[in-house]
Amino acid sequence: MEEKQQPTGGPHFVGKKEELIEAKRSFRTLEGRDILIIHHQGVFYAVDSYCYHAGGELQNGDIEEIDGKLCIICPKHKYKISLAKGEGIYKGTNPREKPPVPRWYSKGVKQRTHTVTETNGDVYVKLSTETCWIDSDFYQGEKGKVERAKA
Ligand code: FES
Repeated sequence: MEEKQQPTGGPHFVGKKEELIEAKRSFRTLEGRDILIIHHQGVFYAVDSYCYHAGGELQNGDIEEIDGKLCIICPKHKYKISLAKGEGIYKGTNPREKPPVPRWYSKGVKQRTHTVTETNGDVYVKLSTETCWIDSDFYQGEKGKVERAKA
């Protein structure tokens, strides 16, 4: 891939739109962070590459619509993560409900997502600048790398 000037902290060039569409899923390391870029049903998404639960490789996960949200299913233990926001999605029941009906719930944001933009056929990813801890951050650090290697 042709190397382009990468402004520090700014949007990073990650490839030509056509290449990324054809690849469907592309792995990139930006500022030391491993990112998965997904093209699905005409939309680009960028998420941390390793699952927040135990570092599973999301690159190989299926994508399904769950409760109106497109989710990637981690191949390791089948956790569901919304592509747009990185929410952990799970099915549960409310025991106070009689009879309890299983429904989909959100655990909140668990997987860091990043912003994808496109200009004249070039695609860029701007890393999330959200300063609070998001669970998937663990598998981007040194300790997380060790854990992933053990699994
Ligand atoms: Fe992804 Fe457990 S590592 S579901």
